[in-house]
Order: sequence, then structure tokens, then C-alpha cells
Amino acid sequence: MRHILVIGIGAGNPEHMTIQAINALNRADVLFIPTKGAKKAELAEVRREICGRYVTRSGSRTVEFAVPVRRTEGRSYAGSVDEWHASIAATYERLLEGELGEDQTGAFLVWGDPMLYDSTIRIIERVRARGRVSFEFEVIPGITSLQALCASHRIPLNLVGKPLEITTGRRLAESFPHRTETAVVMLDGEQAFQHIEDSEAEIYWGAYLGTPDEIVISGRLAEVKDEILKTRAAVRERMGWIMDIYLLRKGADFDD
Ligand SMILES: C[S@@+](CC[C@H](N)C(=O)[O-])C[C@H]1O[C@@H](n2cnc3c(N)ncnc32)[C@H](O)[C@@H]1O
Repeated sequence: MRHILVIGIGAGNPEHMTIQAINALNRADVLFIPTKGAKKAELAEVRREICGRYVTRSGSRTVEFAVPVRRTEGRSYAGSVDEWHASIAATYERLLEGELGEDQTGAFLVWGDPMLYDSTIRIIERVRARGRVSFEFEVIPGITSLQALCASHRIPLNLVGKPLEITTGRRLAESFPHRTETAVVMLDGEQAFQHIEDSEAEIYWGAYLGTPDEIVISGRLAEVKDEILKTRAAVRERMGWIMDIYLLRKGADFDD
């Protein structure tokens, strides 16, 4: 039976690769590398570098594939994501049928960790449910951008004994600061932090974490908000794309 390895490759630094992930790369006959257009060429480049650096097994090959683009016009958010996942599932199915022999192992190199804001696992389950190609799969964890953010700022993720929420820019207003004292925000295209009015709030922001272009800024939200907005706009313009993540916090350890 075909075997699939879903490998977390870390958030941009090839040294985020764990020994388990390196060993998994070397079990694969075929390494699948997603490409997301010219603007995000660096992301595919990190994956190529990882394969070049760590694959020691001879005879394996790399197959690059274009990830379908999500369409949003005239669709609800859920409808648009569902359609997009269906189209990626069809791509995966073609790859597995066309590129992987019956008893071979294929690896998908997933950014960060596969369990966090990534749909590879649910899309693979979708392919399985379609029933055209049978396979087993396993997941190898990776260093997430959330870990990279906390490490670069040298902060613990949570306040002592307190919960946290991980959310998106679209939904930040629902959680911080009313529902949680620590919120981590990913996938924020609108810089939702700029609308948070709380004099106690602190922000720990990071872009291109783990890469040579890494930038981090932290401080009282009210004091560094404009600096983050300006820096973000400038680097996004220069690079043509951006990946950023931030943690918002108020309160302190032990203050119940
Ligand atoms: C589709 S999610 C993938 C998350 C990934 N699975 C992880 O574990 O980090 C993409 C989001 O992750 C965050 N992200 C991923 N890598 C990053 C990096 N190197 N620097 C800053 N943010 C990053 C950004 O918020 C980005 O919008």
C-alpha cells in the first residue's frame, strides 16, 4: 500500500528540521514540493534547500506541483475554502496515482507544524474519503511559527496558569482583550491589532521568522503600533509578500 508522510519542516529556518523529520525525508521515494507562484517563490526555495541539505538516500525524486488558488468572489468564506480544498484534494489524488507506485512512500513537506492553521491533514483525509486511491499516512511534527515567535522574543507563550487563544486577524476582536489575556494571531491580512484599544496591551510581532529577513518588534501596543504598521508595509512592498505573526498580552504572571 502507498504510504504518505506529512512532515513538518519548521517555519523558515532549515535548522528547524528535527531528526525525526530528516529521517522521514530519507524514507520517501517521492518528495512533493508545493509552489505558490512567483511572489512566494522563497517558500518553495526553503523546501528545496531542506531536501538538498538533508536527503542522503539515493534514488528518491522531487515532484513540484502548483497549489490551486482560492477563489473568493461570490462565495462565502466556508464555501470558498471548501471548494479550494476539493481542488487541492484532486491535485493530491493525481499526484498519488501518477507519481507514486503501489508500494512507495511519498512525503509532503508542510510549513511549520501540520496541525496548526494548515489543511494538509484534512485534505489527505478528503482524498482517502474519495476512495480512488488507498494509502496510509503518518504525521511528523515540526517547529511552528508560534514557537519561532516566542523564541525570538525570548518569552513564554502563556502567563502562569492562564489560558490563551490562537486566532486569525478576522476574529481577533472577538477574543482579545475581553475573553483572553493572551492571544496569538496568524493569517492576519488586515493588521487587526491596530483596532485594539487597551492601554495595558503589549504586542510581540515577528515577520519572516527563522529566515535571514526576520524582523521582530515588541512593546506597549499603543507605543509600537505605528512602527509595526510602517515596517510591515515597507518590507511587504520590498519583498512582494509577507508572513507575520504576533502575540498580544495584558496582565502579568500571578495577577488573578
Ligand atoms: C497557513 S499558516 C501556516 C502555519 C504553519 N503551519 C505553522 O505551524 O507555523 C500561515 C501563517 O503562519 C504564520 N507564519 C508561518 N511562518 C511564519 C514565519 N516564518 N514568520 C512569521 N509568521 C509565519 C503567519 O501568520 C502566516 O500567515
